Amino acid sequence: MPDLRSVGRLVYRAGYALVRPLLFRQTPEDAHTSALRVLGVLDRLPWLAGLMGWLTRTPQTTRAGGVNLPSPVMVAAGLVKGRGFSDEAAALAAVKSGAQIIPGWRSVPLLCGAVEFGSFTRWPRRGNESPVLWRDVATRSTQNRIGLKNPGAAAAAAFLKDKPLPPVFGISLATTPGVDDPNQQGAEVVEAVGFFLAAGIKPTWVTLNLSCPNTEADPQGAQSEALAQVVCAALVEALGDIPLWVKVGPDLSAAQIRVLAQVFDSVGVQAVVATNTLGAPAPVGSFNAGLAGGRLFAHALAVVRQLAGVRAEFGLRFDIIGCGGGLDGAAVSAYTGAGAQAVQVWSALVFRGPLAPALIAAEYAAHSKHN
Ligand SMILES: Cc1cc2nc3c(=O)[nH]c(=O)nc-3n(C[C@H](O)[C@H](O)[C@H](O)COP(=O)(O)O)c2cc1C
Repeated sequence: MPDLRSVGRLVYRAGYALVRPLLFRQTPEDAHTSALRVLGVLDRLPWLAGLMGWLTRTPQTTRAGGVNLPSPVMVAAGLVKGRGFSDEAAALAAVKSGAQIIPGWRSVPLLCGAVEFGSFTRWPRRGNESPVLWRDVATRSTQNRIGLKNPGAAAAAAFLKDKPLPPVFGISLATTPGVDDPNQQGAEVVEAVGFFLAAGIKPTWVTLNLSCPNTEADPQGAQSEALAQVVCAALVEALGDIPLWVKVGPDLSAAQIRVLAQVFDSVGVQAVVATNTLGAPAPVGSFNAGLAGGRLFAHALAVVRQLAGVRAEFGLRFDIIGCGGGLDGAAVSAYTGAGAQAVQVWSALVFRGPLAPALIAAEYAAHSKHN
């Protein structure tokens, strides 16, 4: 007899099959705005989000990056990151006025399990002007040039302070785009994490995002040996017993991967998230935008394989979190087969809806049983 959660997933799958065509009638940007609006409403109905999550998620505790995760599939950075602001005073004033500046902060963890909040930067960012988001249904891919829009670490911490945060969650911090000095970058991320810690917010892990391709900074430059060394070491010291993860891009050379992997290990990074989006020409205009979903999968999987190879060769200790095109259980199996301990997903939420992580984790469990 099927268990209650299998039935829950079946009902959800049928429901989302009806909702998706309506959602996809909107432009990707409008659909994204609508989805965030619904998540904001669900933030105020935690019993409903909690029930939907409970009815679909089968616990599958997984150890990765120094953390006990409730499932091997978690939500990647970039969904629960909040509104963009042009300056810190405006962002803090919005928090003071009671504005809901981070939609999904409560509902997404209840629906999906472990979530990485952010990326937050030290200072708020407005992000890029529209168009910033595309989807390709045939390949289940997304492309974005949101440009690290976020309220900044001080306002994000002020907003989350004293709120009922989930038992397991990560905070993603990004380096400040355009800053070349590694010491300044180190000081800024330490200051950023300090806002959360001072507010009594203790994330289960912190991820340093070294690799956003959608800003004025050169993401390759941000993944240099010198910067990684200084910033990671500063963060590890500031975090104490909170594990540090680092997120890299999909377009590093084999030589860069070898160097960075050894730097990460030497400073005590506990997991490498591979990967962020891949910079590629946007479907319109003359700019690049980060490719994700189906078209990223092979690139990210190759980075996971290379990282696992270097890890074995030098006896390095970090875990690997696969990220890119984790759209179904088979993709998760491919990642774990290549050496990853867990997987993060973003585009799956577009193509399979807000309970996608539960569906993917259940498929992965079934896949693992039969292989
Ligand atoms: C709209 C959007 C915003 C994103 N913002 C961030 C971000 O702020 N920080 C980050 O580390 N990754 C960000 N990402 C990248 C995702 O976390 C993930 O690495 C990427 O989408 C690949 O996973 P996927 O193929 O499952 O979508 C963003 C992705 C999308 C689509």
